[in-house]
Amino acid sequence: TVLVVDFGAQYAQLIARRVREARVYSEIVPSSMPVAEMLAKRPRAIILSGGPSSVYEPGAPRLDRELFEAGVPVFGMCYGFQLMATVLGGTVDNSGAREYGRTALEVSRPGSTLFEGTPDRQEVWMSHGDACSAAPEGFAVTASTDVVPVAAFENDEKRLYGVQYHPEVMHSTHGQQILEHFLYRGAGITPEWTTSNVVDEQIAAIRAQVGDRRAICGLSGGVDSAVAAALVQRAIGDRLTCVYVDHGLMRKGETEQVEKDFVGATGVRLKVVDASQRFLAALDGVSDPEQKRKIIGREFIRVFEQAQAEIVAEAPNDQPVEFLVQGTLYPDVVESGGGTGTANIKSHHNVGGLPEDLEFALVEPLRMLFKDEVRMVGQELGLPDEIVQRQPFPGPGLGIRIVGAVTRERLDLLREADAIAREELTAAGLDRDIWQCPVVLLADVRSVGVQGDGRTYGHPVVLRPVSSEDAMTADWSRLPYDVLARISTRITNEVAEVNRVVLDVTSKPPGTIEWE
Ligand code: XMP
Repeated sequence: TVLVVDFGAQYAQLIARRVREARVYSEIVPSSMPVAEMLAKRPRAIILSGGPSSVYEPGAPRLDRELFEAGVPVFGMCYGFQLMATVLGGTVDNSGAREYGRTALEVSRPGSTLFEGTPDRQEVWMSHGDACSAAPEGFAVTASTDVVPVAAFENDEKRLYGVQYHPEVMHSTHGQQILEHFLYRGAGITPEWTTSNVVDEQIAAIRAQVGDRRAICGLSGGVDSAVAAALVQRAIGDRLTCVYVDHGLMRKGETEQVEKDFVGATGVRLKVVDASQRFLAALDGVSDPEQKRKIIGREFIRVFEQAQAEIVAEAPNDQPVEFLVQGTLYPDVVESGGGTGTANIKSHHNVGGLPEDLEFALVEPLRMLFKDEVRMVGQELGLPDEIVQRQPFPGPGLGIRIVGAVTRERLDLLREADAIAREELTAAGLDRDIWQCPVVLLADVRSVGVQGDGRTYGHPVVLRPVSSEDAMTADWSRLPYDVLARISTRITNEVAEVNRVVLDVTSKPPGTIEWE
């Protein structure tokens, strides 16, 4: 394991991902963790991330000198670099020598461990107020900028390295190479972490955890629950039952995809519950978004509990159903503050969240993985692209894409319009460029139109194509006009009650991705 010590900015997750891209396993730990505890994890190397503080601020995170004396290779970046410099006796000045954004780095020793084979002058991403003016004793200065005399230092004997900039961001043109040089040359690590190892390890871990007992898993149709279920199924076979609740708010073809494609690829034991009547009845006349979400969440829990009771009743003599499989991912684990310990189920992330009083132990085979790694594991397990490359879709489904009350007729309309938009986006090869494209029916709005010889009075639908990296922020996608034109023509021709197609050109913030 390579430990990434998080000094409080968003950079730690990105660094951990970059390390894994270099095929070395990494984990994030908070900077508040005592050094002895970090070392007890027996890391192959430690990376110190950047952070928002200045080393001169009172209360700024510190590090024990021990960390640098344990013989473990260390690489400091930005704040981590300055901390290293200060702790080891170098000089960091608070002289107003700021640098933000793209900066030219002069590499003064091309033969260095970090910079070998990279250009003498390269573009890097800087973001700092303080600057290192003298490296600690025993360190060679290997790069500088116009503003900062010491922008990188290296000590091969002690295997300690640092750079003032952010090698993990894309704008640092040789950043990945430099990180790999640290891992492979500096720390002597062999890159061997792959998704097929993950699959083997997880299968062994699941078998050890579940033993000969049984587990259930709620399938949402999304990537995470599908991959988690496929892994558990590989491990324990028919002792896993998946439950798929069809709430009637799914998109066209989605239920079939779970029933046919997923079962086809995995052979999983699946219980499909058609609960659309029940959800529609509960949603009758409700147009407030929060209300809708609550109702859908509540009904989901009831249906799931009923299904669980049925599974037990169907085979009462089998081992008890003691485990619940969840597709929790690493970013959720990091954000909820812990690598280990009790799981924290985000209610947002499943349909309303599963009931808290369910008496289950959780099986979370993806809790150390990033989204792109989950997709790779899915591929490794032989899941079809339609499932593995699927764009995000909210748990409450089309229920929160109808502005106004939800009815069967409105759902049918929206399902058609949505299917057309998806078909055209796929045909234009845009699926990987956009994050997702909600199609929203403004059910309570009507506008006048003309079709053939007649006047129409129909509903508008909104296209909401967005690009994003993590859904926290998003920008509206600049789709080609001809694609927009085809979608608009087809929807207004093929979906009778829709006479207008409009484009949402709002970023997030201030808009959210969904309309409700
Ligand atoms: P917003 O609308 O908050 O959406 O910008 C951010 C991302 O989350 C998805 N989303 C949900 N996913 N259950 C989910 O599993 C939900 O209740 C839910 N609401 C929004 C949304 O599609 C987008 O990808």
